[in-house]
Amino acid sequence: MGNYRIAVLPGDGIGKEVTSGAVEVLKAVGIRFGHEFTFEYGLIGGAAIDEAGTPLPEETLRLCRESDAVLLGAVGGPKWDDNPPHLRPEKGLLAIRKQLDLYANLRPVVCYDSLVSASPLKPDLVQGVDFVIVRELTGGIYFGQPSGRVVENGEEKAVDTLLYKKEEIERIVRMAFILARGRKKKVTSVDKANVLSSSRLWREVAEEVAKQFPDVTLEHMLVDNAAMQLIRAPKQFDVIVTENMFGDILSDEASMLSGSLGMLPSASLSASGPSLYEPVHGSAPDIAGMNKANPIAAILSAAMMLRLSFGLTAEAEAVEHAVWQALALGLRTADLAPSGGRIVSTNEMVEEIKAAVLDYTAIAQ
Ligand code: NAD
Ligand code: IPM
Ligand code: MN
Repeated sequence: MGNYRIAVLPGDGIGKEVTSGAVEVLKAVGIRFGHEFTFEYGLIGGAAIDEAGTPLPEETLRLCRESDAVLLGAVGGPKWDDNPPHLRPEKGLLAIRKQLDLYANLRPVVCYDSLVSASPLKPDLVQGVDFVIVRELTGGIYFGQPSGRVVENGEEKAVDTLLYKKEEIERIVRMAFILARGRKKKVTSVDKANVLSSSRLWREVAEEVAKQFPDVTLEHMLVDNAAMQLIRAPKQFDVIVTENMFGDILSDEASMLSGSLGMLPSASLSASGPSLYEPVHGSAPDIAGMNKANPIAAILSAAMMLRLSFGLTAEAEAVEHAVWQALALGLRTADLAPSGGRIVSTNEMVEEIKAAVLDYTAIAQ
């Protein structure tokens, strides 16, 4: 049976609560399937600024590089919002993505049948939604130089640069096509090619990559239209591939198809080393420390880790099935309240999912 080293970076706010839930569920997987998971904790974000004076300490980076995979919670909060740019929690997240070469951020969007009424959209519109957003994560406007504030001739200015190299576009688009091959064989490449040079290069490269995948259909969609289509007819999508900032915005929007931002997991795959798994949501300062946060995005991120980093398919299915079952039984954290059921705390939801993991594996053996 396997031995796996997992670096856990809880970060700030509900990041701490939801990663602790995901670790609990992984421990249950370990017990029942006979794997040994080692959890080693590292600092990132505001917690790292407070304790180590920097949002991404060298020690954390070393721990991640020595691990088989990384589980991250969330970073940020009002306490650090007025810090200078290099001392912001978000800087730690961007730095770890860059340092570990986490270029491909997979954000699956699935609407569970039991949560159809949790979405503010009409039930027939969201029932059966199942697509994945492939977000480029280490380039674009988040990282381009120059970036910062300047005063020129007494005038205050700020600049950000949206820059993509051809190879950066190629590898993320290829990832989208590979995923589509195992799904419904459709890639929607989202850009703003009617305005941006970087998008025109993106479109050209997408066309080139598509030639290597004749069995997969490629369509292009402008990002403003995509934002609308996600609400009008979300079931048209299979794999959406897009640049860093568009992917950030569209995935928060898409989360409402699943009922809540607290439902969306993600995998940030590395080109060269350990991959990182993180919920799509942030540190949610408005509910932090209240035992109210939905732990499912973090738990499903752990399931993605089992499948994509460790190749543990049955174990990943056990976790996904446990989540499905807890929801089917009517357990709801407060964010899912519109779909009825019984409102439970973060801990109660975690306990139920843990129990279902143990149960599932008992049946499977
Ligand atoms: P957010 O995602 O933290 O919260 C947005 C809203 O969704 C809030 O009302 C929150 O309560 C709710 N929500 C989010 N996750 C939830 C969950 N699991 N269960 C129940 N409700 C949930 O976004 P924000 O408020 O714009 O940002 C807060 C902080 O988080 C900022 O500092 C931001 O930079 C940071 N952030 C970090 C990440 C990350 O670490 N990956 C992602 C997004 C935002
Ligand atoms: C996310 C977050 C981050 C991003 C922030 C906190 C830097 O919103 O992971 O989606 O914009 O990538
Ligand atoms: Mn985001």
